[in-house]
Amino acid sequence: MNQISFNKIFITGNETAYMAEAMASGKIAGDGKFTRKCQEFFERKYGFRKCLLTTSCTDALEMAALLLNIQPGDEVIIPSYTFVSTANAFILRGAKVVFADSNNREPNLDPSAIEKLITPRTKAIVVVHYAGVACDMDIIMELAEKNGLFVIEDAAQAIDSFYKGRPLGSIGHLSAFSFHETKNIICGEGGMLVINDERFMERAEIIREKGTNRSAFLRGEKDRYEWVDAGSSFLPSDLLSAFLFAQLESLETIQQKRREITELYLHLLKPLQDKGKLVLPCVPAYATNNASVFYVLCKSREQRQMLIDGLKAQGISAVFHYLCLHRSKYYSTRHDGRQLPNSDRYTECLLRLPLYTELSATDVERTCNALTGLLQ
Ligand SMILES: Cc1ncc(COP(=O)(O)O)c(C=O)c1O
Repeated sequence: MNQISFNKIFITGNETAYMAEAMASGKIAGDGKFTRKCQEFFERKYGFRKCLLTTSCTDALEMAALLLNIQPGDEVIIPSYTFVSTANAFILRGAKVVFADSNNREPNLDPSAIEKLITPRTKAIVVVHYAGVACDMDIIMELAEKNGLFVIEDAAQAIDSFYKGRPLGSIGHLSAFSFHETKNIICGEGGMLVINDERFMERAEIIREKGTNRSAFLRGEKDRYEWVDAGSSFLPSDLLSAFLFAQLESLETIQQKRREITELYLHLLKPLQDKGKLVLPCVPAYATNNASVFYVLCKSREQRQMLIDGLKAQGISAVFHYLCLHRSKYYSTRHDGRQLPNSDRYTECLLRLPLYTELSATDVERTCNALTGLLQ
């Protein structure tokens, strides 16, 4: 019986050739030919105003915090049910993160939970499109506009997904994507900052290049480059961009395969939902499913552990995440004590099933049969 792993990287076949091409060109530092090709791909395909590849989504979020000039005393509203990087980017600048609850249908922020958290010190709202499913952006953007706040989309999992037909990543003032090996499109470790607000465009390039205007210099707009602002080194080697470009050329194929896997899961697990044994993911009418994560909601932490153990005994790896941040070791003493029951529920009951581009239909069937057996 083969093991069904939770994730497996997908190699399109062109990665090595493009990396060799970068090496042969003699230029493998950042902002080379492949970095530009990737950025142009995203700008053309999704209409993003300006894209800058970064070394991770974490770094793109840290750049966003620098661009917003986040200072000690500022407050930033984020979901508690998210990866730590969403919070760290702002904590590192001295901000207070204020946790909002998820909604009860799916793990995204509940827009009605945001408004009462806004104070005169609030500077930004960070939304996370969990599993690539859009947050209700019209309500969030309206709230932000009314209160003079910035919106950052943590689109780590949200490539090629849409809100009312608009690509995720194109709606907030700034957005951050991930190309970590667990995502749909990968380069090992990698990310991208999308800048939709013109005011941030020039400074974003500078912050990414150690606070220098080297990007403008490389374009021939300056006769030398100098240190003009605070910044860090957020740009990836062109070798990684070459890898990423090969992936982007296969984006449609990758997405098609992953969507088929997701459809099969939904079809095979529907009887379990109909019998009230588990809950399948909810994708609101305004959102799309980009097949980045497949999860089910269990009834309790105990039932989830029973399923993880039972699947493991049959060679199938299923996992859970995230541990809600308001109850984390680092943040629990700083949290104001509000109950966030939906975040708690996703922390305890969300179970992720294997999903990777080359997962076979047979392995999806085996996983669903195993789940059905365990839930009899
Ligand atoms: C919601 C969210 N934000 C940020 C990140 C961090 O991404 P990266 O590993 O590219 O830094 C992740 C990682 O999975 C994530 O799930």
